[in-house]
Amino acid sequence: MNKKLVANWKMNGTLDLLREYGPLLHDQNLIVATPSILIQAAASSQQAQIAAQDCSMFKRFGAFTGEVSAQMLKQAGAKFVILGHSERRRLLLETSEVIRLKIENALEAALKVIHCVSEDFESQISEELKTNSDSVWIAYEPLSAIGTGKTPSPEEIQQVAKRIKALTQRPVLYGGSVSSKNLMSFCCLEEIDGVLVGGASLKLSEIETMLLQIREGI
Ligand code: PGA
Repeated sequence: MNKKLVANWKMNGTLDLLREYGPLLHDQNLIVATPSILIQAAASSQQAQIAAQDCSMFKRFGAFTGEVSAQMLKQAGAKFVILGHSERRRLLLETSEVIRLKIENALEAALKVIHCVSEDFESQISEELKTNSDSVWIAYEPLSAIGTGKTPSPEEIQQVAKRIKALTQRPVLYGGSVSSKNLMSFCCLEEIDGVLVGGASLKLSEIETMLLQIREGI
């Protein structure tokens, strides 16, 4: 697979940012994870690859106030969903069991899953995924690297990616303080299939530069 850039807007971004992204949304190396309220607008461009940032642990439809199901996200036009992000584990107290249910629902709704794990990846990757689904990518995001500007060395990331691949045989993304300054030191690694970018994805010039770097391999 070509190297992918998943832009994780988190609880940021408006229709204005979506408009600024404009034609970039057609770049097949780019997947944009907008807040769920923007998914429909983002996915109105046919070629856009849009991700949700979460889905409900409950199935399809029902009396679950405030929840958005995987099915609904799919209908809104999402093709992917990010699940198990450390911010949700830490701030919303999501457990591995909750994440497992969400992954199950996402796969049932035919969404591809970007399953985030951190240093504790061996216990975070569920047994089923070690042998199962072709529709899951693993995003390795060390806690110490998210939003800090500090990344592990490419050699360290390569070692971990090798271990994750040996466990899961799934594509592996790296996430945590990725920017145009360090992107290619990760993307040049054979074991890394792409990156998950938070803060830098909110700056158009950064996204443009990173997509160019991926396209040209520079
Ligand atoms: P960051 O976030 O790029 O701002 O470090 C990455 C993430 O949390 O997905």
